[in-house]
Amino acid sequence: MTPPTAIILAAGLGKRMKSDLPKVFHQVAGLPLVCYPIQLCQKLSIKKRILVTGKESRPHRKGIESLIAGKIGWVEQHPPLGTGHAVATALRKVRSGNETFLILYGDMPLVSPETIRRLIGAKESAQADLALVTALPDPTPEYGRIIRNPDESIRDIVEFRDATPDQRKIREVNVGIYLVSEKFLRSVISRLKTDNKQKEYYLTDLVKMARTEGKKIVSVNPADESESFGVNTQEERAEIERLIMAAKKKELMREGVSFVHPESVVIESQVCIGRGTRIMGPVFLMGETSIGKNGMIEPGSFIRDSRIGNGVHLKGYCYIEESRIDDGAQIGPFAHLRPLAIIGEKAKVGNFVEIKKSRIGKGSKVPHLSYIGDCSMGREVNIGAGTITCNYDGKVKHKTVIGDKVFVGSDTQFVAPIRVGRSSVIGAGSTITKNIKPFSLALTRADQKEFKNWVKKR
Ligand code: UD1
Ligand code: CA
Repeated sequence: MTPPTAIILAAGLGKRMKSDLPKVFHQVAGLPLVCYPIQLCQKLSIKKRILVTGKESRPHRKGIESLIAGKIGWVEQHPPLGTGHAVATALRKVRSGNETFLILYGDMPLVSPETIRRLIGAKESAQADLALVTALPDPTPEYGRIIRNPDESIRDIVEFRDATPDQRKIREVNVGIYLVSEKFLRSVISRLKTDNKQKEYYLTDLVKMARTEGKKIVSVNPADESESFGVNTQEERAEIERLIMAAKKKELMREGVSFVHPESVVIESQVCIGRGTRIMGPVFLMGETSIGKNGMIEPGSFIRDSRIGNGVHLKGYCYIEESRIDDGAQIGPFAHLRPLAIIGEKAKVGNFVEIKKSRIGKGSKVPHLSYIGDCSMGREVNIGAGTITCNYDGKVKHKTVIGDKVFVGSDTQFVAPIRVGRSSVIGAGSTITKNIKPFSLALTRADQKEFKNWVKKR
C-alpha cells in the first residue's frame, strides 16, 4: 500500500508546561519534542508530512528543518481551537484526493514504527474507515476514555474532563494516533462541535460520528505501554527524557560500551560511542557528540557537539564544546576546551588549561595552567606551566603560530601576532613580542642581581 500522509498536531502553547516556549519546542534528550513524530515518519518512509503549529513556531522553523531530513509542510492554526480544528486547518491546505491520513500528536515522543505498522495492517485487513491506538497504562493517566459497546466495538471517546465518575474508572485510554480514510475524514471534520468542558473541537469526536454513520472502526495496542506517554507537564518531560536516555544506554551497552553507573549519565539522542569505551559515572554527553572506541571518560565532564577519537583518555571534570580530540590524546582533569579547539593525536592537555580556536599538533603537550587562544601549534611542542597567548589587543584577536618541536619555558607570554620558528627554545618567564627564527634561543628575562648578606645588613 502507498504510505499515508501524516498530519502532526503541534499548535498551542501547552499551558500545563507553564512556559513561554511552546510545548513542542521543549528539548527532550537533545531534540525539540516535535522532531520525534517527524523522525517516526522518516522511519516509516512517510514522505508527505504536514505539521500544524501556531505562529509562535515561526522563529523555530529553520532550526527544526535543519534537524530533520526531507521536506515538511507547515500549516498555521490560529487560534488553536482544539485537535479537531487543527486537522480541519491542515485539510484545507491539502488538495483532496483518495489519501489515508496518519494523525499524530506532536507531544508523544515514544511511539514506535512497529505500532504504526500494526495500525496500518489492522485498518487494511478490516477495510476500516478509522483505526486508532488504545492502551491500558498503569496507573491510568487523565487521557480520553474509550467507551465500548457490549459487543466490544468502540462507541466513543470521552475526554477525562468530560467523563462521568464511572467513565473515569475505565482503564482503556485513547493514545492519540489515528489512521483515517480521506473521504470519511473530510465528510465529518467540518461537523465537529464544541459542546464540551473545554469548548474545543475535539478530534476524538470522529469516533462517535463514525459509529452513527455505520463506519468501521478498529483499534490496536501499542507494542509497549510507554508509547502512550505524552508530554503535558515539566514532570512528564523529565520522565520521558529519562526513558529515552535509559533506552539509549541499553542499546550502547549491547554494542559494547561500558557504563560504571549508567543512571548518572545524561546522554542525548544524537550521541555515538564506540565499543570498548568506558564511561565512569556522571557525565553529560550532549548534542552531536561522537566518542570513538576504547576510550575512557572519567566522571564530571560536560561535552557538547564534539568529536572525540579512539583511545582518548578524558580525565575528570572537563568542559568541552564544539571541539575535536584526535586518537590517543589525554585531556584533563579540569580542562576547558572552547569552540574550535583541535587536539592532535596523542597530544596532552592537562589541568587548568583553556584552549580556544587553536590546533594543538600531534604529540604536543600543554600540561598545566595555560591559556592557548587563536594558536596554531605544530607537533611535539612542549608548553611550560603558566604559558599565555596574549591574543587580544582590546579590539581584534591575533594569531600565535608555534612551529614543530618548540620548547616553551614556564610563565611565557606570546604577544600576538607572533611566529615562533621550529625547534626554538624560549627561556622561562619571557614576554615574547617579536618573531623567533627556527633553532634559536629567545628570552626576555632581566639579569638577576644578588646582594650578599643583604638581609643581615638590613
Ligand atoms: C489528547 C486527546 C486525548 C488523548 C490524549 C493522549 C483530544 C481532544 N484529546 O488530549 O483523548 O487521551 O491526547 O495524549 O484530542 N493541538 C493542536 N491544536 C489545538 C490543540 C492541540 O495542534 O488546537 C496539538 C497539541 O500541540 C498537542 C496535541 O495536539 O501536541 C494534543 O493536544 P493536547 O492539548 O496535549 O491534548 P490532550 O489534552 O493531551
Ligand atoms: Ca497531550
